[in-house]
Amino acid sequence: MESRGPLPTSCWLLLPLPLLPPLLLLLPLPPHTRQGLALRHILPTQRAQDPPAMHLSNGPGQEPVTVLTFNLSRVAKTSSSFEVQTWDQEGVIFYGDTNPKDDWFMLGLRDGRPEIQMHSHWAQLTVGAGPRLDDGRWHQVKIRNHGDSVLLEVDGEMVLHLRQVSGSLNIKPQTIMRIAVGGLLFPPSSLRLPLVPALMDGCLRRGSWLDPQAQISASTLTSLRSCGLELQPGLFFPSGTHTEFSLQDIPQPYTEPWAFSLDLGLKLAAGSGHLLALGTPENPSWLSLHLQDQKVVLSAGSGPGLDLPLVMGLPLQLKLGMSRVVLSQGPKTEVLALPPLGLGPLISSLWAQSEGHLFLGALPGEDPSASFCLDGLWVQGQKLDMDQALSRSQDIWTHSCPQSPGKGTDTSQSIPT
Ligand SMILES: *[C@@H]1O[C@H](CO)[C@@H](O)[C@H](O)[C@H]1NC(C)=O
Repeated sequence: MESRGPLPTSCWLLLPLPLLPPLLLLLPLPPHTRQGLALRHILPTQRAQDPPAMHLSNGPGQEPVTVLTFNLSRVAKTSSSFEVQTWDQEGVIFYGDTNPKDDWFMLGLRDGRPEIQMHSHWAQLTVGAGPRLDDGRWHQVKIRNHGDSVLLEVDGEMVLHLRQVSGSLNIKPQTIMRIAVGGLLFPPSSLRLPLVPALMDGCLRRGSWLDPQAQISASTLTSLRSCGLELQPGLFFPSGTHTEFSLQDIPQPYTEPWAFSLDLGLKLAAGSGHLLALGTPENPSWLSLHLQDQKVVLSAGSGPGLDLPLVMGLPLQLKLGMSRVVLSQGPKTEVLALPPLGLGPLISSLWAQSEGHLFLGALPGEDPSASFCLDGLWVQGQKLDMDQALSRSQDIWTHSCPQSPGKGTDTSQSIPT
């Protein structure tokens, strides 16, 4: 669903007097500007000039992709609207404040549904409402202030009406309102109820933030990714990226007999390099699965390995025992025997070491490496939560994949072809 047709024109609110409060979208409207607003209301909206969709996360940090500042005493339009597309169920869409201590606002997703957190002189609240938006479609979201209320609309339906959350305050002419898109302007732990992670893997377009007439400045970081691609849900490792888990943080092997299983749902893969490995940071590939010449190769230490042809769509299963490792996909099965007194006990001993790790993606120093999309990784039958990783490359796409692996390479500096 690429397009929902033209959006309604921006809502130029004609606020009732008496004047309204600061706090984020909630702006006092000097009476002499009301006529001007009414005139601007009838100007056509120019869709042709819409900037392309932007990704909500930027390069290395957790900073917002865009920060806009407004002269609060000049803000007359008290609504913001945008369209958002994501498969990510949790994260920040935008944040606004006049003061990060006691006058701020956040709109994000939790469990896929919109959540508002607000802390101001008038209200401190955390509230979720509306339909799930994490279905990969574009959804139109509009948030506006009306009277003492904040209203949230999703796809043209009002889904939340917060009453008595604003009132009138004297606005100093120096007051600046900031709006941050795709991040916060304070640490995520300062939210009333933290979103984990605060970063969202999603795209935003047709953003209309408060009143352009009152805008003082705009700063935009380079988004790590473009949103111009057709996407699909998944977890994408661009070439060179990796994730590392402590074996102690993930589901544990069975004992007697010792057994451990990994299921890798591979949706796309390109290039050559590691998919996953078990080992220690010094010696990361005691046991490894890598891509080479359109084959999936299993190897233990420096011994001879075995392989299966690369097939997408069927989970690759790795079953580890004390004396052998079974690699299977659909009806195909290959068995790698481990020397009884050598590697088998060595690999199982990884779990007794605090240094025992599961590596996904490129190994330290590996260059070049494969790029691949997963619909998941299951350890002992349980889906692994990437947020439990010890470390993770920032440019992993946590909830989306390109439609073909080469496509991802067009849009990120981090995926050399
Ligand atoms: C905001 O606008 C008011 C009225 O135009 C002006 O007096 C004030 O200096 C402006 N403040 C800032 C921070 O630009």
